[in-house]
Amino acid sequence: MRIVQVDPTRPDPRAIADAALVLRRGELVAFPTETVYGLGANALDPAAVDRIYAAKGRPAYNPIIVHVADAAGARAVAAEWPERAERLAAAFWPGPLTIVLPKRPIVPDGVTAGLPSVGVRVPAHPVALALITAASMPIAAPSANRSTELSPTTADHVARSLGNAVDLILDAGPTRVGIESTVVDLTRDPPVLLRPGMISITDLERVVGPVVGAGRVAGEAARPPPGKLDRHNSPRATLVLAGAADVAHVMDRERARGRRVGALVLASPLRGEHMIEMPADAPGYAARLYESLHALDDAGCAVIVVERVAGGREWDGIRDRLDRAARPPG
Ligand code: TXA
Ligand code: MG
Repeated sequence: MRIVQVDPTRPDPRAIADAALVLRRGELVAFPTETVYGLGANALDPAAVDRIYAAKGRPAYNPIIVHVADAAGARAVAAEWPERAERLAAAFWPGPLTIVLPKRPIVPDGVTAGLPSVGVRVPAHPVALALITAASMPIAAPSANRSTELSPTTADHVARSLGNAVDLILDAGPTRVGIESTVVDLTRDPPVLLRPGMISITDLERVVGPVVGAGRVAGEAARPPPGKLDRHNSPRATLVLAGAADVAHVMDRERARGRRVGALVLASPLRGEHMIEMPADAPGYAARLYESLHALDDAGCAVIVVERVAGGREWDGIRDRLDRAARPPG
């Protein structure tokens, strides 16, 4: 595994050309996006895509997002381009929105986990865009972490999670958005929100009209839709959610069991060792969420108490990640 530093706004074209060659050889390149680091492979090369699943230990039923440079790139992998896709692309791309559309036959089954649809997005990161353009291919990329672990917001997180399973890491510093993209399914009418993110359901509805939360689709089968299968990106520590008034009590209880306890706090006035005061605004909170959980894991905390966040729509993506991480494995 090699790590190459690149400038986040004006990446060195030689470093990008080198990374593009690695992708063209069918190998894996981890690269920054505005959300989290992605583990990239040539989306049109089934063997390269298989290497992503192997590197991550990812279950074969979980489809991978395809990253393209613009709407024309999306239309090259999607079999249909409805009016709603055009509007969402115009409003939010480049940006943290993945649009699920019927796939073209050139997209290998490995990318879509056998589904007839493909998730596409144009990342808002100069390094990602330069790489897609230099490689002149769509890049399949899940978050660059082993399947059950936290998503990476720095190159160091990637290196420690994947080690030699990744051939090259482009290090452009910490990512800006901090949690993964919003995923919306346009193969259904009305569209279905498969994964909340920092582009909220309200933001989407302003552009395309009513959007349904996945849990609320009439006649939904028992099996969750694919966007919901990415069940947990959890810290190694046990994550416990608590109201502001309960943080102290839960921390004391866990310490009494002899555990090293950390916390993410907001309104709670408590401060102390392994306690991180989180930004009070949703974008600021999201930007620091995974970084903070990684830091408390690294400090050896066995339990992380997270003060519950607000109920507003702009917090949906954050609440979703916290709820998943707090769920016991199984
Ligand atoms: O921000 C992000 O989306 C990051 C960066 C690297 O782009 N990627 C990411 O990928 O989070 P991953 O693999 O960790 O999550 C992809 C999500 C999964 O929930 C997956 O089920 C869903 O997108 N997805 C991908 N293709 C899909 C499809 N055809 N139908 C339904 N869901 C799909
Ligand atoms: Mg992931």
